[in-house]
Amino acid sequence: MTTLIKNGTVVTAGDTFQADVVIEGEQIAMLGRNLPEAGHDEVIDAAGLLLLPGGIDVHTHLELPFGGTVSSDDFFTGHRAAAFGGTTTHIDFVIQPMGGSLKQGVETWHQKAEGKACIDYGFHMAITDLRDEVMAEIPSMLNEGITSLKLFMAYKGLFQVDDTTLYRAMITAAEHGMLIMVHAENGDVIAERRAKLLAEGKTAPHYHAVAQPALVEAEATNRAVTLAGIAQAPLYVVHMTCEESIEPLALGRAKGFPVMGETCTQYLFVFEKDLARPNYEGAKFICSPPVRQPKDAPVLWQALADHTLQAVSTDHCPFWFEGGVQGRIPGKELGKPSFDKIPNGMPGIEDRMPVMWHHGVNAGRYSANRFVEITATNPAKIFGLYPRKGTIAIGSDADIVLWDPEKPHTISAATHHMNTDYNVYEGMEVKGWPTRVLLRGQSIVAGEDWKGKKGSGQFLRRRPNGEVL
Ligand code: URP
Ligand code: ZN
Ligand code: ZN
Repeated sequence: MTTLIKNGTVVTAGDTFQADVVIEGEQIAMLGRNLPEAGHDEVIDAAGLLLLPGGIDVHTHLELPFGGTVSSDDFFTGHRAAAFGGTTTHIDFVIQPMGGSLKQGVETWHQKAEGKACIDYGFHMAITDLRDEVMAEIPSMLNEGITSLKLFMAYKGLFQVDDTTLYRAMITAAEHGMLIMVHAENGDVIAERRAKLLAEGKTAPHYHAVAQPALVEAEATNRAVTLAGIAQAPLYVVHMTCEESIEPLALGRAKGFPVMGETCTQYLFVFEKDLARPNYEGAKFICSPPVRQPKDAPVLWQALADHTLQAVSTDHCPFWFEGGVQGRIPGKELGKPSFDKIPNGMPGIEDRMPVMWHHGVNAGRYSANRFVEITATNPAKIFGLYPRKGTIAIGSDADIVLWDPEKPHTISAATHHMNTDYNVYEGMEVKGWPTRVLLRGQSIVAGEDWKGKKGSGQFLRRRPNGEVL
C-alpha cells in the first residue's frame, strides 16, 4: 500500500518546506517536489494544509485507579479522543501495585491496552513502593521497553519517597540509561497543611490549593534538581506549574545539571480563582500540583519558548463531574464532603495540540517549528522514540497530521470525544485544527469521521539513553 500526500507544507522542529510525501506501508519513503500521482493506492491533496508530525503526549493516566474510583477514559476512548486532537502517540504511567512488583504493574497495563489501543503508546513506570527488591528490579524494565521511572515526592503515606530513596533511584537509573521523572511537591508539608485546614472545617475545593501552594512545589523542585546535579543523573520534572518552580529548574540548567521539565496545557489557562467557582464547579479543576495564579502563565509560556521547558503534555486524568449520580463511574462528586476526597486530574488529551497552536503560534509566542518541537520532537528525543516518532523524515513512521491553520473551532464537551461531561476549555475559540490524522500510514481521523480500529495501536518499546535537551 502506498500513499502520496501532495501539495502540503511540511513543518518539523527544524524546517518548514513544501513537499510531497510518499508513504510505503507504515513509513515515510520519500519527500520531494511534484512527485507523480501514478502508481499510488491513495492520493491525498494537502493544498493549503500543514503536515505536522503526530503529537506525542508523554503524560497521561488512562483507566487509572485513583481516590476510590478510576479515570474515565480507557485505552479506546482516550486514544480516539487523542487522535481527533492530532495526537498519535502517548506514554501512560503504569502504577506499581502496593506491595507488588514492577512487572505486575506492567502486565496490568498491557491488559488495559489489549484489544483497545488505536494509537501508539509506551509506558513509564510510576514506582509506589521502592523496597530494596524493587530497586533491584528497576533495570529489568529495560527488557519491557520501559526507560523512565516516576517517583513521587508527594502523597505522604501512599506513594511518597524519601530523599535517600530518590537519590539511590537516580544513581540506579543513570547507570542504566534510564530517566527519573519526579512529581515535585513536598508531601510532608502538604500533609501538615491539609490536616490543619480540615481540622478548621475548611473543606471546600479551593482549599486544595491552599494546602499545596507554589512554594511547596518550588522546594521539592529545587531539591530534586539539586539531587540530580549531585548524582549527575538525568531528571525530568513533570507537571510544572509556576514561576517559583521554574526558577530552580532554570538555575539547575544554567549550572549544567542534566535537568528538564514539562508543563501541562491547563496550567496556562486555569487558575486558583477557578477552584472557587460556585456550585462545587471548582472540583472540575482539581489536580496536583494545583492550578496557580495568572502571573504564572506568562512565565510558563516564556519557559516553553526559551527552552527552559522541553515539552508540554496534558496529565490527562479525566473524571466525570457527575459520575455516580448519573449512573456512571464515580467522579468529582466524591469530594463534596471535603477537598481531600476529590479525585485529582483533568481531561485534556484531545485539546492540547489545537490549544497550544492557537495560543502559542497564532499568538506569536513561539514559531510553528517550536510548536512541533514541544509537542512531538522533544518528547520523542527525551523518551527514546526518535526518529521513529516525532518528525517527518524518510524512514520515520508515517504519523502525520494534516493541519488546517485557518480552520476555526469552538472547544466544547458537547463535541469532544473524551469520556467526560465537561471540558476545561469550554467555549474557547481556536484557529488551527486537524483535518486528517494518519497513524503509520493509515487514516484514523478524516474530518469528523473516526476511521481507526480498536487494537491497531502498537506498544512502543523505547530505547534507553534518551537525549538530555
Ligand atoms: O492530579 C493529577 N496530576 N493526577 C494524576 C496523578 C499525578 O500526580 O500525576
Ligand atoms: Zn504527578
Ligand atoms: Zn500525572
